[in-house]
Amino acid sequence: MSRRRNTSQDGADKKRKPLSLKDLSQLRKIFSYLRPHRVLWIVGFFFLLITMGTSLLFPKLLGGLMSSSAENLRGNMVQMMGLLALQSVAGFFRVVIFVIVTERALAALREDLYGHLVHLPMAFFSSRRVGELNSRVASDTAQIGETLTTTLAEFLRGLSMVIGGIAILAFTSIKLTLFIVAVIPPFMIVTLFFGRFIRKYAKRVQDEVAASNTIVEETFAGIQTVKAFANEAWERSRYAKRIQNVVGLAVKGGYYRGAFSSFITFGLFGAIALVIWFGAGMVHEGELAAEKLNEFILYALFIGGSIGGLANVYAQLQKAIGATETIFGLLDETVEMEPVQSPSPPIEVGSVAMKDVKFSYPTRADVPVLKSLSFDLPQGQTLALVGKSGSGKSTIASLLMRFYTAFEGDFTANGKQVATLDLQSWRSALALVPQDVLLFGGTIRENITYGNTAASDAMIIDAAKQANAWEFIEGFPEGLETTVGDRGVQLSGGQRQRIAIARALLKDPQLLILDEATSALDSESEHLVQEALDRLMKGRTSVVIAHRLSTIRKAHQIIVLEDGAIIERGTHEALMKEAGTYAELIKLQDVMGRDVREEEKSDQL
Ligand SMILES: Nc1ncnc2c1ncn2[C@@H]1O[C@H](COP(=O)(O)OP(=O)(O)O)[C@@H](O)[C@H]1O
Ligand SMILES: [Mg+2]
Repeated sequence: MSRRRNTSQDGADKKRKPLSLKDLSQLRKIFSYLRPHRVLWIVGFFFLLITMGTSLLFPKLLGGLMSSSAENLRGNMVQMMGLLALQSVAGFFRVVIFVIVTERALAALREDLYGHLVHLPMAFFSSRRVGELNSRVASDTAQIGETLTTTLAEFLRGLSMVIGGIAILAFTSIKLTLFIVAVIPPFMIVTLFFGRFIRKYAKRVQDEVAASNTIVEETFAGIQTVKAFANEAWERSRYAKRIQNVVGLAVKGGYYRGAFSSFITFGLFGAIALVIWFGAGMVHEGELAAEKLNEFILYALFIGGSIGGLANVYAQLQKAIGATETIFGLLDETVEMEPVQSPSPPIEVGSVAMKDVKFSYPTRADVPVLKSLSFDLPQGQTLALVGKSGSGKSTIASLLMRFYTAFEGDFTANGKQVATLDLQSWRSALALVPQDVLLFGGTIRENITYGNTAASDAMIIDAAKQANAWEFIEGFPEGLETTVGDRGVQLSGGQRQRIAIARALLKDPQLLILDEATSALDSESEHLVQEALDRLMKGRTSVVIAHRLSTIRKAHQIIVLEDGAIIERGTHEALMKEAGTYAELIKLQDVMGRDVREEEKSDQL
């Protein structure tokens, strides 16, 4: 639940707000990614300047063309075509160069972002949804790219058109210019606000439709429940109510839209008519040359259009700044270790101990998950963790892996505080075989060598054999090169488990952690996996979280957890004699019950 809270806050942050100077300084950070390409960027900017100039001249030449005399007509047309050719060529290079620069800058940004994210601590990931991070890497960077290639150019071109256009007009007739400035921008601004209001309104209608669709989805997904309670009529009326809301809202929206389109027609053509009327009046008074009127009208239209375009650009910029903020916010998160270039120094794990460890997850700081945990695990021995689900077993595994570092108490290896040891070295010395093994899309070879990329073929095959995986790998026509995962062969749970064991064997860890590695398997593969695990654990310092009695009973010590506290500890025999929670747990579980009887029988023999 707490995850939800976090992400929805992030979502709210993305709401648009007016741009401030501080926001613009965000964009500066983006420019640091453009810096390596500044020469090319300046060339692109030069082409942008050309297109700005040519667009500014366009209405002038067009006006000239319209009012040119017979002898000037050809010359004006040639000028016009020349201008268009220049504009097209410059526009082409502007786009191509901006795309090249942006894509290179974006690639660097994406690599930095991903490279940073994978180094963030687990605490960061447990408070985010994977989908959200995906979209940060993909769509927020794309948004920024769009801004750098198109929006910025449009912004500058629009701005130059408005300012330059007005200046050119003022040069010819201040009076008519003032008139245009008084008529066009207010009209454009009212249009923009009206348009935005209508879009917002349309969004409300959409939301209402979505709400009604939720009913449809829910009831069809749970149609059995609906029918079992004979609630069809009730659902119908619930749906009908929603649909009537949609109608009410949509019809009201229809009035607004009708008014809007009338306003546009009346306003736009009215404004043009006004300008023409005023200009024509001036022509009659002799205050303006007749051929200048066309030019004026064209500039008025282009300036109006540019003001409209600028508003879109503004909205785009807001979005890009939101995206920049989130991305640089992520880049500011503290990594758990600085990425090291050189191989990290090897360390001696030796015996492992925890003393009075108290821990809460950062997302639920008020809920203690481990309460005063202490144990001593001598080198080469096995510690088994037993307890109901939710008692904190996997959490201990996470602390051992140093996924979470903020906890009270001592965690030592070979007598040294683990927190002082290099994190990369520490994790290189450990292997974790989780309950649910995720294989990466790739070949079996790649998946086995994930923990030791330098392994030779002989080593890989040996590990696979010891993990009881070689038999089924050999059975595939492509052997080790068989692709697994979404686009390849689907492996069964037991097969995946054995690949994970081969992976761990190849890594040859000093401390092995098995988290319920056999709990989700059928008895056939369970036997094969168990055998492989025994080989993997032999003589190795291991922490096992186990369901299987055969694993637990061989452990040198067993810790029984309840709600994050140790309630019993000892060997299997001692705990069985105690007839406490452990004995109870063992008896309660069917499979284990059978094990106890069988193994106790074999003990007697
Ligand atoms: N990432 C997490 N964030 C917050 N709470 C968690 C997280 N993982 C586990 N917990 C909580 O910690 C407690 C112990 O969980 P866990 O160690 O997974 O138990 P076990 O492995 O014994 O089933 C549970 O109450 C669980 O809800
Ligand atoms: Mg668990």
